[in-house]
Amino acid sequence: MSHANREAVKFAYWVPNVSGGLVISNIEQRTSWTIDYNRKLAQIAEENGFEYALSQIRFTAGYGAEFQHESVSFSHALLESTKTLKVIAAILPGPWNPALAAKQIATINHLTNGRVAVNVVSGWFRGEFAAIGEHWLDHDERYRRSEEFIRALRGIWTEDNFTFRGDFYRFNNYSLKPKPIDPQPEIFQGGSSRAARDMAARVSDWYFTNGNTPDQIAKQVNDIRQKAKESDHSVRVGVNAFAIVRETEEEAKAVLAEIIEKANPEAVNAFGHEVKNAGKASPEGKGNWAKSSFEDLVQYNDGFRSNLIGTPRQVAERILDLKRAGADLILLGFLHFQEEVEYFGKYVIPLVRELEAAEALQPVAAE
Ligand SMILES: Cc1cc2nc3c(=O)[nH]c(=O)nc-3n(C[C@H](O)[C@H](O)[C@H](O)COP(=O)(O)O)c2cc1C
Repeated sequence: MSHANREAVKFAYWVPNVSGGLVISNIEQRTSWTIDYNRKLAQIAEENGFEYALSQIRFTAGYGAEFQHESVSFSHALLESTKTLKVIAAILPGPWNPALAAKQIATINHLTNGRVAVNVVSGWFRGEFAAIGEHWLDHDERYRRSEEFIRALRGIWTEDNFTFRGDFYRFNNYSLKPKPIDPQPEIFQGGSSRAARDMAARVSDWYFTNGNTPDQIAKQVNDIRQKAKESDHSVRVGVNAFAIVRETEEEAKAVLAEIIEKANPEAVNAFGHEVKNAGKASPEGKGNWAKSSFEDLVQYNDGFRSNLIGTPRQVAERILDLKRAGADLILLGFLHFQEEVEYFGKYVIPLVRELEAAEALQPVAAE
């Protein structure tokens, strides 16, 4: 069954608010984590067809990312520098509690005409939790807490006298004032394990997953949409990809080869060990990185697997394949963000729109 929708596929980029870019490699990267670089990048992105930007939350260095700006304040700064871009602020339950997060995001929603969204992340980095004195919950407990967190956010944003009795959070007749203006902040989440999918199917607006082939994405989408239907909920899907778009396929592939050749093997292996352990703790022994190879792990979220590596036309066609598999949004990382976001917007997105228009003219196949 195809889940492709008729809406235009949306584009987001990863905000480089941590140092070192999005690949664990010593290849030259003309990307900077500073606010000046990021303000300009956000403006380039919104002028070139990107609808969303996703910030990252990290509390400590780990396998790159030596310096890390905080995600909510950084997202606010980007929103203040742009006109239409929606910025997704990453939030980690534990360090954040839902009362503070709801209040903080509601205020930013007012300040920016409803352009802020959140990505509730559940955590994969045990050393980070230890460093800041946060309890490391078991895998599925992390998701149980995240689900309560999301239910609390929604309750606080939409109800007066909100009362909630969870195992992690409690609210008593709480009325947030002012509540967010419409559009309400969208709630994204990351993770691919059973617990992550089930949470998405019950409470999230958007499910982000690691890069993968259209076949594997279709399997996840079918699974989640089926579960969501059972809960009378609907959830959209964002797929990660690391894009290398060049005039010829050879050039694009040569860049990928150089990224991998210059990868830092100790850091990649240590990162792989960490994320595989975090995922293994899930009862079914799977997780975002269960099947990742050394090459895959050079990009933090398996972005090479989506194979957006080639000419503008090849990449546009592969985006259509991901869309047909059920992706509503493509989340993109790049080597040299400012130049490549602009190139992608100028040469790839228009081709995607052409292909989408051609597809819309086709008769709809009976299911
Ligand atoms: C698109 C995306 C963005 C993420 N952003 C962050 C982040 O900023 N900080 C963080 O600690 N984890 C982040 N994560 C990690 C997830 O929240 C989650 O802990 C991880 O994917 C493991 O999930 P799993 O065990 O369900 O597969 C992100 C994951 C994805 C897919």
